[in-house]
Amino acid sequence: TGMVTVDPGFMNTASCESEITYIDGDAGILRYRGYPIDQLAEKSTFLEVAYLLIHGELPSKSEGEAFVERVNRHTLVHEDFRTFMGTFPRNGHPMAVMSSAINALSTFYPESLDPFDDETIELATVLLLAKSRTITSYLHRRRVGEPLLYPDYSRGYVDDFLRMTFAVPYQQYDSDPTVVDALDKLLILHADHEQNCSTSTVRIVGSSHANLYASVAAGINALSGPLHGGANESVLKMLQSIQSSDYDVDTFMAKVKDKEDGVRLMGFGHRVYKNYDPRAAIVKKSADAVLSTLGKRDELLDIALQLEEIALNDDYFIERKLYPNVDFYTGLIYKAMGFEPAMFTPLFALGRMPGWIAQWREMMKDPQTKIGRPRQIYTGATERPYVPVDER
Ligand code: CMC
Repeated sequence: TGMVTVDPGFMNTASCESEITYIDGDAGILRYRGYPIDQLAEKSTFLEVAYLLIHGELPSKSEGEAFVERVNRHTLVHEDFRTFMGTFPRNGHPMAVMSSAINALSTFYPESLDPFDDETIELATVLLLAKSRTITSYLHRRRVGEPLLYPDYSRGYVDDFLRMTFAVPYQQYDSDPTVVDALDKLLILHADHEQNCSTSTVRIVGSSHANLYASVAAGINALSGPLHGGANESVLKMLQSIQSSDYDVDTFMAKVKDKEDGVRLMGFGHRVYKNYDPRAAIVKKSADAVLSTLGKRDELLDIALQLEEIALNDDYFIERKLYPNVDFYTGLIYKAMGFEPAMFTPLFALGRMPGWIAQWREMMKDPQTKIGRPRQIYTGATERPYVPVDER
């Protein structure tokens, strides 16, 4: 074996070749399968983007319809699964419940576990896309103590997600088209982001030939951290704490720059983007539009805009190339839609599902794939003899 060098955080290590997502962090470019993210966000739908990421091409009309129909047909979860979801403490964090629920799917669908059979993989793909939506709506219902609703096959993916999440039983529910559009767009923006922490986790777990559910559940756990997907919840908490405190945004920013108690400006900075995150640019526009349309203009948005304005003109942030990332403005939109902060990261996970699946599938087919097994440089004690307890 050759020389081993340490690369903390894998700043300079490529773990795979991939045809799925392209990022140019200096130019602020993001493309799925070659298509610019702004065009997809504007013109496509979440399930179409899922198809694109997973199968490599945009679907024809009939392929797209068949895919939507298949996902719809699998939206219902087993009654025992509903019972299982009811066994978690209501105030438990939904990300923990979500990863447990996704992992548990493997026990309900043992016929969908073979990681090398194409038909089985396709089944697991559709089951995950379909049931993660139902699961995410149930995360909310359980928290607020409302009954878990059954899916309505005749409705669209996002429309029925909103109904299962927010409807009162036995009452007609009409989703607000502004909300449907905005959420569809947000899910598209989150759908893939190449080898980030959670996706690398999905791949490394899958590299041991663990099944798709086990791999994705691990990805959900990786996503839960505040430096990754958990940032969207942390941003809202940060904005609320500034709002309710007696200090202003300048004082908060001074704390960040002094690195006081490790305070960071959540929703800022990115390992790859050293320029404005193209997703954040789209989300910022959408936040303004959605909040105005829903008549939910929020003082927290003003605080966010002020923080951004200060940061973009401050040497600390300029030197370090810190710009708003996708998580900076999303929480404000989710909040206006009626989601509480603990639900923000599950929404990210729902959006990232196609990316995790596409990356896992690509890896399983890649002849270069080997079990992920990084090396280390040992810095511990050299050999020494065992010491009996009474001599220690
Ligand atoms: N606020 C203040 N300072 C920061 C921030 C921030 N948000 N982000 C980075 N820095 C500073 C950091 O202290 C360091 O300074 P110095 O050179 O003086 O030590 C420098 O910038 C480089 O930071 P790093 O931690 O080495 O950069 P990284 O590439 O390892 O980390 C990051 C990237 C996203 C984890 C980090 O920017 C961060 O913690 N941001 C806040 C959390 C966040 O918003 N995460 C969401 C990321 S995007 C979507 C997602 O993945 O979910």
